[in-house]
Amino acid sequence: MNYDVLIIGTGIAGLYTALNLRDDIRILIITKNKFKDCNSYLAQGGISTSLGKFDEEYYINDTMKAGNYHNDISAVKLLVKNSINNINKLIDIGVPFDRNLDKLRYTREGGHSQFRIVHVKDETGKAVIDTLLEAVSKKSNITLAEDTTLLDLVINDNICHGGVLKYDNNIYTVNSKFTILATGGIGGIFNSTTNVEYLTGDALNIALKHNIDIKDMEYLQLHPTVLYEPNVKGKKLLLSESLRGEGGIIVNKNKEQFIDSLLPRDVVSSAILNEISKTPEKPYVYLDMTSLSKDFLINRFPYLYSECLKRGYKMDKDLLPIAPAHHYCMGGIKVDLHSRTSTENLYAVGEASCTGVHGSNRLASNSLLE
Ligand code: SIN
Repeated sequence: MNYDVLIIGTGIAGLYTALNLRDDIRILIITKNKFKDCNSYLAQGGISTSLGKFDEEYYINDTMKAGNYHNDISAVKLLVKNSINNINKLIDIGVPFDRNLDKLRYTREGGHSQFRIVHVKDETGKAVIDTLLEAVSKKSNITLAEDTTLLDLVINDNICHGGVLKYDNNIYTVNSKFTILATGGIGGIFNSTTNVEYLTGDALNIALKHNIDIKDMEYLQLHPTVLYEPNVKGKKLLLSESLRGEGGIIVNKNKEQFIDSLLPRDVVSSAILNEISKTPEKPYVYLDMTSLSKDFLINRFPYLYSECLKRGYKMDKDLLPIAPAHHYCMGGIKVDLHSRTSTENLYAVGEASCTGVHGSNRLASNSLLE
């Protein structure tokens, strides 16, 4: 099979890349499971954006500080300066971000000095994926394929010529002028994670085999507020950081606040792990949402309110037991600011890639923007 562009992965990174390419280019996008089996679909909190020129410096500083200044500053500047245009583009494509009257409604998450996160209730990723999938499906130049796995890349003399794919127990070689890896992170390999189980670092594995440069793999992020469910292995229920942005706090077993709940994730997770170490027989602390009314919570966080209720917790009345779990891999396939890898005609985007933009700890809601 011959295509101009082969994209591996149908999360936001893969779909948005396809939509940003010219209409006269023949594109094949594949995913090894179903379109919605991706981390993007699970994203709750929202997408960060600069609020305007005045905010760019603050936003750059917030991103650098959260990343412990291990970030690539040129990548951070590029991300921040392009944020508003891309949010506007998503709005044009049809993403129904929440509004107060006609103005976008912004929330806040850890490490942000401003309310600058646009969202669709507490299911932002689902809304973006649904919208992008619909837009991609309307394009006659784009072919989408589920249940199709990348087995290998075709690389000669450090030039990528496409990929070897498996579908329905048949093997196909796709020749493509350009190949784009958008396969997400590695959360599926952890016992306790917010990620979907299928994220097993497949592209990273293939990249290692071909000596393609990898960067920052030692930087893994724990999300501080994941519902403590000792009997659930693998993917657990993320309790979005935006719950804290809207007034939730983290407390210990004595109902005392031991950490500012809106500090960057690595700091909050460390403080929680330290607190938990004092009571190994009860390895959790609590997220306290009880200062907010039931009406507000049901309206602003309908998904989480109902998921907690299914598990026996009334968010407006009960403390929610939480513990940190694996959430995000800051490292990945090393790329430049044009997403080029160290192999010619091979690109990587989204969590699978590493521009260095996140440093050693990603600022909340910068992943969907990236
Ligand atoms: C969350 O809603 O807390 C997750 C958002 C993110 O990972 O940036």
